[in-house]
Parts: sequence; structure tokens; C-alpha cells
Amino acid sequence: MIKGKVAVITGGGGVLCSAFAKELASKGAKVAVLDLRIEAAKAVSDSIRKEGGVSFYYKADVLDKANIEAVREKINKDLGMCDILINGAGGNSPKATTTYETFDTAHLHDKDITTFFDLDPKNINNLFQLNFTGTFIPTQVFAKDMATRGGTILNISSMSAYSPMTKVMAYSAAKAAISNFTMWLAVHFAPSNIRVNAMTPGFFDTNQNHALLFNSDNTPTQRTKKILSQTPLNRLGEVKDLLGTLIYLCDDEMSGFVTGAVIPVDGGFLAYSGV
Ligand SMILES: NC(=O)c1ccc[n+]([C@@H]2O[C@H](COP(=O)([O-])OP(=O)(O)OC[C@H]3O[C@@H](n4cnc5c(N)ncnc54)[C@H](O)[C@@H]3O)[C@@H](O)[C@H]2O)c1
Repeated sequence: MIKGKVAVITGGGGVLCSAFAKELASKGAKVAVLDLRIEAAKAVSDSIRKEGGVSFYYKADVLDKANIEAVREKINKDLGMCDILINGAGGNSPKATTTYETFDTAHLHDKDITTFFDLDPKNINNLFQLNFTGTFIPTQVFAKDMATRGGTILNISSMSAYSPMTKVMAYSAAKAAISNFTMWLAVHFAPSNIRVNAMTPGFFDTNQNHALLFNSDNTPTQRTKKILSQTPLNRLGEVKDLLGTLIYLCDDEMSGFVTGAVIPVDGGFLAYSGV
């Protein structure tokens, strides 16, 4: 049952997790929307309340443990103890991305091209921290609410975790760490009846990456053609494609025996070898 449960969603102001927050609220969860961008968190929370749901929003930085602990205290007062944690804050950064898919010695002296050699360790660290440590800290803080009562944690990994996507080296490594951490944590917390799972979304046409996927005349870019050629269901995902998996993994009655699972929602991308 989702009804009456307290769901804490980091990155709740973002594209995927705002939809997750609204879906959980529509099933009767009391939803805490956490985001670095307080206006985005507020908009999601307001929209849930407008629909008759229960929601509070909080400015939160998933990399600041003291801040997350203070937010947990507020949530405990406003809504109660956390039953469901969605670790949604994360993403890629152009600062941790190479310009081209593969290396060419001709790129070495071109200042406009970021090769592997130009990647700044600081930017790689930041990206790794946002995705990995930004999942670790909220888990450490909110799993305390679950330690004596059970609960469920959902991490967001990526297709890039299984087989790294070109250009996004640090993102791929960090998401591989998330999949690995999910399995580690599932074993560690099993005696406390805290289930820990992850979903790995495939390629989604979200506001954030629309420009990467479609030209200004709305025709698919080369990257989109490549993605679709590797996706047996032959389309991009829509956010609503993730909601069934979200509810399934959060609801103890549906997935009470599922822990340590990393579930692809990818139109068959992972299964296809390309031949
Ligand atoms: N969009 C996709 O196609 C896709 C595919 C696979 C995986 N994912 C993963 O799903 C998750 C959500 O992605 P999205 O596309 O909705 O991204 P998004 O950028 O729309 O949302 C991420 C949210 O996290 C917030 N955030 C960033 N740093 C933060 C911090 N330090 N503390 C608190 N909040 C912070 C941002 O303000 C933003 O609202 C990410 O982990 C992403 O890697 C997305």
C-alpha cells in the first residue's frame, strides 16, 4: 500500500522526479519534495496540493549531510517518519563530458575540443559526488527512520551503468556505482526489512534533453537515430513509462519479495546486441 506512507523525493523539482512525486501523491502518499532549487520544489508541492494531495517542500542539498539531517527533522514534524525514499537528484554535466565519442590525435591541440586529457579532476569529482555521494547521504539520513520499522529505497541508475555511453565517462562510472550500491545496501538492510532497488531509465524525451534529441524543425538528430536503431520498441521513452515500475517497487504488497533489483525501463535497449 502506498496510501498514508511518507515519501521523500530528492531532486523532486526535476523532470522525472516531479512526475514521481505527483504519481505517489495520487496514490495517497504524503510527499516531501526536496530540491536545491526551492522554486521548483514549491511548484511541484503546490501542484500536488491543488489536486488535493498532501505535500511539503524543502530546500535541500544532497551533498550536505547537516542540511539533510535538518530537513529530516522538519519532515518528521510535518509529515512523520520516512517510509519511501527516492534518490532522484543527479545528472550529467557538460564539464565532465568529452566533445567526441573517440579520441583522435588531431584533437590534442584544438582548444575548442575537450579530449579525455582535458577533463578536470575537480569536475569529474563533482559529477561523481552528485550522483553517488548525493545518493549515499540521503540514504544514510532517511534510512534511520526505517531502521526499526522497515521501508523502501529507490535509486535512479542509468543504461550507462551496464555499458558506458560515449562522452559521459564520469556519469557512467557514477551510475555503475549506484547499481552496485543498490545491491550492497539491499543485502545490508535485509534484516531490517528495508528493500532497496533501482530503476535504469533508457532514453527519454524530457525538456532537458529535447534539444539533443530533436532539431529545431522537430526531426530526430543523428544521436536519436542511433538510439532508436538500438531500441527494439523503436521509440523514446515518455516519463509515464516509468510510473508503473515506480509504484511496483515502492508498494510492499506488489514487490515485498523484491530487493537488490536493478530494473531497466528502456524499450529493450539493454537486451539488444545490435545484430
Ligand atoms: N532524463 C533522462 O533521460 C534520464 C535517464 C536515465 C537516468 N536519469 C536520472 O534520473 C534522475 C533525474 O533525472 P532528470 O532527467 O529528472 O534530471 P533533472 O535535472 O530534471 O532533475 C534533477 C534535479 O536534481 C536537483 N539537484 C541537483 N543537484 C542537487 C543537489 N545537490 N541537492 C538537491 N537537489 C539537486 C536539480 O535541481 C533538479 O531539479 C537523475 O539521477 C538522472 O541521472 C535520467
